[in-house]
Amino acid sequence: MAKHLLAVKELTPSTWQLLIQDTLQFSSHKSKSNFENLFLNKHAALLFMEPSTRTQLSFSLACSKLGIQTHLLLQEGSSLSKGESLEDTFLNMEAMGLDLIIARIKEEKILESISKKLKHLNIICAGEGKKSHPSQALLDACTIFTEFKKFDDLRILFIGDIEHSRVYQSNVEWMQWFSKEIYHVSPKSNSIFNISKNCKEDSSWDDMLPYFDVIIMLRPQLERHESNIQFSPSDYHEKFGINKRRFEKISKKCILMHPGPFYQNVEFEHALLTQPNFKIYDQVKFGVFARMSILKYVLEYKNET
Ligand code: CP
Repeated sequence: MAKHLLAVKELTPSTWQLLIQDTLQFSSHKSKSNFENLFLNKHAALLFMEPSTRTQLSFSLACSKLGIQTHLLLQEGSSLSKGESLEDTFLNMEAMGLDLIIARIKEEKILESISKKLKHLNIICAGEGKKSHPSQALLDACTIFTEFKKFDDLRILFIGDIEHSRVYQSNVEWMQWFSKEIYHVSPKSNSIFNISKNCKEDSSWDDMLPYFDVIIMLRPQLERHESNIQFSPSDYHEKFGINKRRFEKISKKCILMHPGPFYQNVEFEHALLTQPNFKIYDQVKFGVFARMSILKYVLEYKNET
């Protein structure tokens, strides 16, 4: 039977914690001999219908480290460009005997509907519209866990374009299992909002900055904006960017994260990137190991715990 990973919300908190343990274990292996042949003779297709640097490369690296052979299918060079449907494309891949498809796609819900028609081909979502990015959420969770050794009651703030962010959606799906202290401030709301209590805070978000353990900055997702309102990087930076003045208000124990890619001097002042509480490249490092643990989860799946 096929096993898919399309969204964090399909999982249980205990499965999530197992995925984190596996990721940390992969990251701590000194020798790759422990896992390099784990999935010899498995074949994965990479189908990225939206641009990607981190996710595509780290899934590809994760497959290589586990002995999985990868096959790149480019939309432009495939029969998708001749009008073949995505469903027929996936059914053909299943007929060829591929084990996995790692897919990034703009349209929402189509992966779920195709997944119900597959018998053996496992789908891993590598980013789906504004809705889902489970592997990003897992590497973010590992970055946070490495710092705090817990998730319970952490005070987390998302700053930025949450309305168009699949990173926000997938992270909130697991964070709500552990904490009622999840907040956001976005260009749409302009004020700070506690999502668990479903209410606005009276304070300005600048004033609340010392309160947080984790701050996740998000890029304005211009490629998903429907309106033609001109985006002003300097205006966004002034209203929502972490500049030196705001950075000085943040607790020294707070970590700052960003899923990438970021715009220089928009979401944060670029010179701040060298500050030790900026964990952006730790996130990227965990990306390879998080994807290894997702591949293992899907390929070894028996029963949800
Ligand atoms: N964070 C993330 O998904 O980056 P890419 O778009 O480069 O894969």
